[in-house]
Amino acid sequence: MNKQIIFTIDQKECTSEAGKYIVDAARENGIYIPTLCNYKGVKPAGSCRVCTVKVNKRHLTACTTPVAEGMEIELNTTELNDLRKAVVEILFTEGNHFCPACEKSGNCELQALAYRFQIMAPRFPYQFNKRDVDASHPKILHDHNRCILCKRCIRAVKNEEGKSVFTFENRAKKVHIKLDEKLGDSLTDELAEKAMEVCPVGSILVKEKGFEIPIGERTYDKVPIGEMLITDK
Ligand code: SF4
Ligand code: FES
Repeated sequence: MNKQIIFTIDQKECTSEAGKYIVDAARENGIYIPTLCNYKGVKPAGSCRVCTVKVNKRHLTACTTPVAEGMEIELNTTELNDLRKAVVEILFTEGNHFCPACEKSGNCELQALAYRFQIMAPRFPYQFNKRDVDASHPKILHDHNRCILCKRCIRAVKNEEGKSVFTFENRAKKVHIKLDEKLGDSLTDELAEKAMEVCPVGSILVKEKGFEIPIGERTYDKVPIGEMLITDK
């Protein structure tokens, strides 16, 4: 076990093992840091910036930065909460999200964060990007309108050889996630279920299944994101 260290979050004294990522160390101390591209047990990518905190006046991603002895972390300041809110607003305007008609409603982390940050109408203009729904695979339906390009599917869904089943295609505005041409066939029922679970939004759905728990009884229908640290991802 690494040595225990002391650090602070918003001036509250915390302890953790040296080297743990700030999000995980905070969680151990009962403090929630909003995240989106991060997924427990999967190597962090630090791509969405929702978990941004400040240390020594520098903005850092809490999912990729390890805690250190004496670190003074700023978390819940007006500036940082507005930055997180802006990121969520941008994601809503960049994609085409239709929450009332989405199978992930109530389990969607993007929707849950929008409620947390009390987003009524995004401050940025909607892009209305034209995106497809890919239903060509026998097991899953892939709705590119909802994808936030967090790469959780690429990082978490791997076949028996440890190879990612999902991959990126194209660049810049045309970039999208797709099943790897060679490895897509190795998507088992279990991996398809995992992909649906890992995706923070409703971009990946298992065909003819969707979600068994009805709307109104799902994770964030019952408890807002961040209020139940144990089950939050
Ligand atoms: S399909 Fe889902 S998990 Fe994969 S990058 Fe898009 S939003 Fe993230
Ligand atoms: S959760 Fe840390 S950058 Fe996305």
